[in-house]
Amino acid sequence: MKTYKKICAALLTALLCVPSLKADEGMWLLPYLKQQNIKRMQEMGLTLSAEQIYNPGQGSVIDAVVHFDGGCTGELISSQGLLLTNHHCGYDQIREHSTVTNNFLRDGFYAPTMKDELPNPGLVVTFIDEIVDVTDYVNAYLKKAKCNDPMEYLSRDYLTKVANAWYKKNRGKKPGYIVLDLAPFYEGNKFILSISKEYSDVRLVAAPPSSIGSYGADTDNWVWPRHSGDFCVFRIYTDKDGKPAKYDPNNVPMRPKFHFKVNSGGLNEDDFVMIMGYPGRTNHFYTAAEVAERRDIDNTVRIDMRKVRQETMLAEMRADEAVNIQYASKYARSTNAYKNAIGSNWAIRKMDFEGMKKDQQAKLTKYATENNKPEYIEAMKKIEEMVAQRADFRKQVWMIDEGLLRAVESVGAPVLDEKTFNELKSNADKRTKFINEKYLTYFNKDYNKEVDRKVTKAMLTAFINGTAPENLPAVLRGVKDINGFVNNLLDKTIYRDASVLESAIINGDYASYDADPVVRLSKDVHALHADVKGKVAGFDREFARVRKTYVKGIMEMEGEMNVWPDANSTVRYTFGKLKGYIPRDNVYYGFQTTMEGVMEKEDPTNPEYTLSPKLKDIYNRKDFGSYALANGKMPVDICATTHTTGGNSGSPVIDKYGNLVGLNFDRNWEGVGGDINYLADYQRSIICDVRYVLLILDKYLGAQRLIDEMDIAK
Ligand code: ARG
Ligand code: ASP
Repeated sequence: MKTYKKICAALLTALLCVPSLKADEGMWLLPYLKQQNIKRMQEMGLTLSAEQIYNPGQGSVIDAVVHFDGGCTGELISSQGLLLTNHHCGYDQIREHSTVTNNFLRDGFYAPTMKDELPNPGLVVTFIDEIVDVTDYVNAYLKKAKCNDPMEYLSRDYLTKVANAWYKKNRGKKPGYIVLDLAPFYEGNKFILSISKEYSDVRLVAAPPSSIGSYGADTDNWVWPRHSGDFCVFRIYTDKDGKPAKYDPNNVPMRPKFHFKVNSGGLNEDDFVMIMGYPGRTNHFYTAAEVAERRDIDNTVRIDMRKVRQETMLAEMRADEAVNIQYASKYARSTNAYKNAIGSNWAIRKMDFEGMKKDQQAKLTKYATENNKPEYIEAMKKIEEMVAQRADFRKQVWMIDEGLLRAVESVGAPVLDEKTFNELKSNADKRTKFINEKYLTYFNKDYNKEVDRKVTKAMLTAFINGTAPENLPAVLRGVKDINGFVNNLLDKTIYRDASVLESAIINGDYASYDADPVVRLSKDVHALHADVKGKVAGFDREFARVRKTYVKGIMEMEGEMNVWPDANSTVRYTFGKLKGYIPRDNVYYGFQTTMEGVMEKEDPTNPEYTLSPKLKDIYNRKDFGSYALANGKMPVDICATTHTTGGNSGSPVIDKYGNLVGLNFDRNWEGVGGDINYLADYQRSIICDVRYVLLILDKYLGAQRLIDEMDIAK
């Protein structure tokens, strides 16, 4: 009886768990929404039809979503082109406009009238006009061009040529504001062309101070529960006819085909949400061998090397506020991918991704055997062989990259070849230009030689310990006294000072320049890097070919419509629910954070958790307007089971009616392994609750005119 019950329970769990394993997975392509997911989404609560979501140019959801500056996503929230994205996506623009006296990063920004909105040369956003499957055309083109080199047909550059030819033939003359992105999907088994309109008059309208926009900074980065208001506001302008146009003071606010209504009533746990945006890159077709490679080489080297650098930097930063300011952003950049790698390896081990992929390969082997498709089995074998053959070279490339190129500042010094050296020697203008534009922008006010000295000593020690002697760059071979080596490097180099460098160019000869310790280190490291990278690249062509075959096998076995193509910076949708999770035994994280947590984290001695008096005042007076929860608490961030990755930042998160409930800005570190395999129980998109956006605009920035512009639905 007992065993019978157990079997029943096991069967039941299996039945209940199997579908939910797949639930919410996927970064899906919009043209196949109807075939693939709309029914399930509607069963989960969605009230929109496929046409209301994807019907470009006809006033559907897609018309309110933009690719922001090539790397993020944004969405329109008014009939006058008001655009919402993340603070960390608009960071460069906010910083560009900041000065010591008008420090918008520190204090926030708000343009009281449209006239005050700030243009941003170089910033572009694009809207999808059409997405076309051009696989047959591309294959015919490649055949005619006798091109079967994956290095070409997988490259966006090469494909641009093909896209232009397709456009000319099928659409005619291309207006300047139309941009074409022809991308390979499923490793080149499919080619899809995105045709977009590009808008380049995009002005900054409002931004919270960093103490709100990136509250918790690096410590909270990739962490749930989160408490930051990671948003900022832009506006798109067009010419008088509504066409995309270069910046012009006479341009007018864009009148979009669709913009989101804002849901200020909030949602409950388990409510349906959908996200649309531009995820950058995933690897969910990895084989077992590639998972192990990622774990044991890529992630491990990154973690080990960055740890050494960060610990050394942090000790210096903690000891001296000036150093803290100099190195804060270098540190931040380093920790972002570091934490991601840790989360990735945690998931790979915890969920046994290697075993999962082996099972998938066993399934494909069976399918291939039964259907007489030996090429799929052969492809898997080849991948495994090549991963083994390239392992040593790959490790060397990662070591050089993470241990030296990204870590030791003098390795990146702008060094000269003989020809340039002689040009600079005889030409004062060129020399001044080099000193100002190359040397001084590299060794700038944020370069601190004493920090670099400590970091270099630590990195060279770690690098030499982790590298076989015969694989060291020439200049490091046989070095026993690292202290002496580094002191000589930094104190004796002509790069220690602009005037010393300049006089060495004027008075010295190339041979002695070339023997300078910094020049030697930089040149030797770069030469070795190029050499081993070339050795790894030697596998790329064949590797890409067999991966294409492998993925073809999976598509055939599973049915093409059941597998989503890896993210490749093209527009996708994902759907799921607002949901908390259990990060580890006996711990539960809810799906919604509130300002209680903002206050709990406050630490005036730590710049990451310093709050502005104004925000505290809003909190203390409970001046939450109509944005608070029923229990009186002010919502800040929410999390959902949706499948997102880097590039989804700024993406609209919408409810079952298509109204905006928040904007995506991060993932939890337990969920970053979802780039390789979706983690139903762990993976969460981290979203800024739109009510917090409204509160900050309304009560903190006094941006009533923006609130008035929006359609706010309760
Ligand atoms: N982890 C987020 C992403 O990958 C945010 C990164 C920016 N924030 C930071 N503290 N570095 O884009
Ligand atoms: N923080 C990421 C971004 O900026 C989002 C993520 O990786 O989940 O796109």
